[in-house]
Amino acid sequence: MLEGKVLVIANNESLKYHAKKDLEKHEFSVVIESDEAEAFEKIREDNFDVIMISIEEGAVDDSVLLQNLKGIKRDALVIVVSNGYSDSSINDMQRLGVFDFLPASFEPKNLFLVIKQAMLSRKEKNNIVIDREKIKNLDKQIALLNKKVDEGAKNTASLYRDLQQSYMRSIKALAQALDMRDEYTHSHSENVTKYAVAVGEEMGLSFQDIKDIRDACGLHDIGKIGIRDSILSKEGELTEAEWRLMREHPMKGAVILQHLGLKNVIELVKQHHEHYNGNGYPAGKKGEEIPLGARIISLADSYDAMTSERAYKNRRFSQEEALQEIKQNGGTQFDPKVVAVFLKIIDRFTE
Ligand SMILES: [Fe+2]
Ligand SMILES: [Fe+2]
Repeated sequence: MLEGKVLVIANNESLKYHAKKDLEKHEFSVVIESDEAEAFEKIREDNFDVIMISIEEGAVDDSVLLQNLKGIKRDALVIVVSNGYSDSSINDMQRLGVFDFLPASFEPKNLFLVIKQAMLSRKEKNNIVIDREKIKNLDKQIALLNKKVDEGAKNTASLYRDLQQSYMRSIKALAQALDMRDEYTHSHSENVTKYAVAVGEEMGLSFQDIKDIRDACGLHDIGKIGIRDSILSKEGELTEAEWRLMREHPMKGAVILQHLGLKNVIELVKQHHEHYNGNGYPAGKKGEEIPLGARIISLADSYDAMTSERAYKNRRFSQEEALQEIKQNGGTQFDPKVVAVFLKIIDRFTE
């Protein structure tokens, strides 16, 4: 059953009569209004599906209601009932959004047919509106989904960062435990960090390079975790076989850290025992082939080893002796540029 609400604005008695009788017979709800000003109010207040306007012959152009139709917020389709339409008045009416025309001397059955057509068309229009509504909802859902995907990616990234940091913390804790096991001073990694960062800063390295050096210093000997206590804590000189095992610690460290994803830090750990002249280990790299950070850590590491009590060294070097040793090895074991900077900053750390 096609239902709907029709407003009939008419002085035309025949139209008023048929609208009421014929349309209500077909279950349409019909409101009749004779006054245009009143009709305006009704259109504004009520939700009509069809508005039928009866206009006197030749007065289409003069209809205030018709001229103002576009300005009224309404969904209703408009049907004009009049006689004597000229081509220009038909064009005008179309421009004003009139849906259909009916002659004033209409056949009563045509009244229902025209209204029915308008109702059908309006229903179709509503369906399109519903579809648009669906599309709008779909758009919203997609936007929401995209937002969730974005948030998910952010969460994953921050989860990864948290994991990485927590992994780094665990390894650093392990490195600290190792410092104690290795019989170095309790703060070997800490001291190496202190010297290496000071050299890096003095050399004007970037924030990121300094950060990599700091992280690598804390972890540089982590590979010693795979070396037996009997070697690490051995009193006196190591045998050649023991040294071979000891020299594996930079590579072992790189393997332990591989899941950390910090490529530069891993390289610094791997190369902290390379020598400037190529006589170091594990790869025997020389000069600028060795990352600057590793050249800095190498010197800081050696200086702290010399000035600390170590089980396999008979005695501790004094600061002057250690500095002398460093100077002598500039250009062989150590990068001379790094040596020069180290000698410049070391005073900051003397008691
Ligand atoms: Fe080492
Ligand atoms: Fe070390």
